Amino acid sequence: MTNAVLIGFMGSGKSDAGKTAASILGYSFHDTDTIIETLACKKISKIFEEDGEPHFRNLETQALEGLIGVQNSIISTGGGIILKKENRGIIRKIGIPILLHARVDVILNRLKDKTDRPLIAAPNKEELVKRILEDRKEAYSQSSDAAIDTSDLTLEEVAYKIKGIIESYEKNKS
Ligand code: S3P
Repeated sequence: MTNAVLIGFMGSGKSDAGKTAASILGYSFHDTDTIIETLACKKISKIFEEDGEPHFRNLETQALEGLIGVQNSIISTGGGIILKKENRGIIRKIGIPILLHARVDVILNRLKDKTDRPLIAAPNKEELVKRILEDRKEAYSQSSDAAIDTSDLTLEEVAYKIKGIIESYEKNKS
């Protein structure tokens, strides 16, 4: 069966809903942020601090390249992975790109106790979230074939929507 690659802003639910979808489908689950932390032997916030964002973006490309060829998998990606055009191409090679998105208030609420998101590690979180979302709006829509608004859905509801997208893709293929 076809893979799904989840893209979308921090706090849109990619990792949690992705894990749930993988378990419902009997799929494997991969997370590019986790792969990068393993490759670099350090946390993402340390990579940003010590090596800079461009280095992190290169590690994202390496992580994606390592996933080419996986099967029966749900892949969760970091929120900025679509910033590099090269990555958008690799994502489409791996599976169906599905955008998860949520309202700003929901994103802020989901991220309020998280300290591991260097791009929004500042007191003016709301302003930062709005600005980055606006900057990435076009890249997110161009990079995805389907979208799910996760704002008012449970993890299971999102997971079943992911399953439905994969199944309808499979049906149209045959
Ligand atoms: C980032 C999102 C993070 C992580 C890094 C950068 C971004 O992943 O890759 O902090 O640029 O939006 P999540 O989307 O899983 O939080």
